[in-house]
Amino acid sequence: TRIEWDSETTRKGGYPHYMLKEIYEQPQTISNALDVDEKNLDAFVDLLDRKQTSHLVGVGTTFYVTMYANYIFSQVAGKYIPAISSDEFVSLSPADKESFVLAISQSGETYDTISALKHAKAQGAATGALVNVMGSTISRLVDRVILQGSGPEICVISTKAALAQMVILTHMALKLGLRRKRLTERQYKTSLKALQDLPEIINGILNERSGFIHRIAHQHRNVKNWLYLGRGIYYPIALESALKMKEVAYVHAEGMPCGFLKHGTLAMIDDDVYSIVFVPPKSDKTMYQATLASIAEIRARSGFVLGIHFDERGKDKEQFSEELIIPQVPEIVAPFIHLVISQLFAYFTATSLKRNVDKPRSLAKSVTVG
Ligand code: G6P
Repeated sequence: TRIEWDSETTRKGGYPHYMLKEIYEQPQTISNALDVDEKNLDAFVDLLDRKQTSHLVGVGTTFYVTMYANYIFSQVAGKYIPAISSDEFVSLSPADKESFVLAISQSGETYDTISALKHAKAQGAATGALVNVMGSTISRLVDRVILQGSGPEICVISTKAALAQMVILTHMALKLGLRRKRLTERQYKTSLKALQDLPEIINGILNERSGFIHRIAHQHRNVKNWLYLGRGIYYPIALESALKMKEVAYVHAEGMPCGFLKHGTLAMIDDDVYSIVFVPPKSDKTMYQATLASIAEIRARSGFVLGIHFDERGKDKEQFSEELIIPQVPEIVAPFIHLVISQLFAYFTATSLKRNVDKPRSLAKSVTVG
């Protein structure tokens, strides 16, 4: 007998697509992310602390990673570090000799980010980067580099690399918070422990919730527009989640802060508009209540709301049209859980629509031209 050997299937480790394989690799890539060289991380923290101004740059998914970082640095370190999309960096030209520019890039080959870094260097700024691909152009261009060690990401859509970047930036923010005395030693350790426990939590979500997510995605595969809503740090997660849906399923999706609803978008809401709302854990009381209030605004206009929340018990039927309940987690890791669920939701929507998951039309893994 002849054994059929399909090398492509083997490389995918039995998964139907690289995207799913890479989503499932996240517990491991998070562990790797937490293992990056401590001294190197400290050197970045030192620069962020000492330099008069710093800027975060990235594009596409990595721009949303920088937006996430903007929030986490503010929240845990009391340091406001603006995020700029790499393609807009030259127009804004914000750097000078006193500043530090930190670029985020999976491939390390993105033209827009390379241009931003070259511009920053010409302005005399110190530069650093967080990249996945060793030896890449960006890793050689900057003064300092952190290699995130997520392994090859084959699917055009970034999943595991982006999450690992967020974890590293959170670790960096915690260190900066400790250094700037915004966090006590104890608070630092508790948050770090939450990050260390994250792989286990994500394993649980992947194993126990993906069947349900698959079902909801399949059921709603013909929805033409999705609104992704979140407040505060959940806003960049909403943007990144919407981008996943656009890229892989070719379905229009818009990420938006909840607070924006009443400044325009509410006019559009009727029973044809579908929203996904990222509800923070209840412990984050103000944000939690404000998010529920936004949901009520949508429901009052007959809008469909898929609520992703951490309450132990289900809500009354009126509150959400559909709900996905996740076990309680510490606040600092909650946005990551929403992100993983959104990756799966986009993936299953795309497979239900028979899209070319690993190579969506018109997109490239790394855009090396301007
Ligand atoms: C392209 C890819 C995106 C990616 C972006 C930035 O547009 O299709 O998935 O987020 O480039 O890539 P980088 O490698 O710099 O993170």
